[in-house]
Amino acid sequence: MQKPKVYITRPLPEEVVEPYRGKLDIEMYEVDEPIPAERLSAQVKEVDALIPMLSEKLGEEFFRETSAKVVANLAVGFDNIDVEAARKYGVTVTNTPDVLTETTADLTFALMLNTARRITEAEAYIKEDKWKQWSPLQLAGTDVHHKTMGIVGMGRIGEAVAQRAKGFSMDILYHNRSRKTEAEEELGARYVSFDELLEKSDYVVCMTPFTEETRHLFGEETFRKMKRDAYFINTSRGKTVDEEALYQALEKGEIKGCGLDVFEEEPISSSHPLLQMQNVTATPHIGSSSVETRYRMMQLCLDNCIRVLSGEEPITPVT
Ligand code: DGY
Repeated sequence: MQKPKVYITRPLPEEVVEPYRGKLDIEMYEVDEPIPAERLSAQVKEVDALIPMLSEKLGEEFFRETSAKVVANLAVGFDNIDVEAARKYGVTVTNTPDVLTETTADLTFALMLNTARRITEAEAYIKEDKWKQWSPLQLAGTDVHHKTMGIVGMGRIGEAVAQRAKGFSMDILYHNRSRKTEAEEELGARYVSFDELLEKSDYVVCMTPFTEETRHLFGEETFRKMKRDAYFINTSRGKTVDEEALYQALEKGEIKGCGLDVFEEEPISSSHPLLQMQNVTATPHIGSSSVETRYRMMQLCLDNCIRVLSGEEPITPVT
């Protein structure tokens, strides 16, 4: 019997893919770069399943044309996919929640610690041979322990960040569409309005997914409401932030610094004004990027494809 065809838009490690080859006819785009539109369109009507990356924007036209029964996005976020169009044309969309929660929370915390304690700057200082003497306020940063963290978007990753914050004896505030009573009981997190969170937090951490409602949730007004010595950390989606407003807020000293793993346009250009600022710590969208987690995400995508193609419910459906 012919095996169903799965197309993956990047080359994934053979050791991940190989165990699935018995059940699936797997083909991969051979270059580790976003797939050109013409190469993707050559696959649209050929495949039973597609595993795209965040770099692939799949809209109405794709879903109208495609023979795929399932699109298994290699990410928990799926703002690159027109889910309504997928529903309309009966294509199942899946994502990769859970398997990346702890890894993304680790990076969020690392970015916060790095930003507050100026680790990147300190590393450059020592490597550039600037360390000539000890001095009382040399590269002095800001404490994290016993401060107040405000989490905007208390989903799975938000809760995992809160857990880490608890270990640092932080006060935890959160704002979310709905109350999370378990997080309140287990982590001592306190539900507050968005404004109260902005006004009281030393670290405002954006963990909310990107939707039309959260576009530029963090803008001029938002940054103005934050404490002047607060830090802003974002590891969710760049489009939740008005970067021009963020730049102005940093420039005017309305907030003290920020740590960003995600940007309005990715990849961000190294000449972007935000990246010229000393109080901005930046990483290239690596929230879930540990080898273990990325492997688990790939396996979950392949498992979801097998499930849907054999007429079962996917493990982690979006639609
Ligand atoms: C996700 O999974 O949505 C991340 O942002 C990509 O690793």
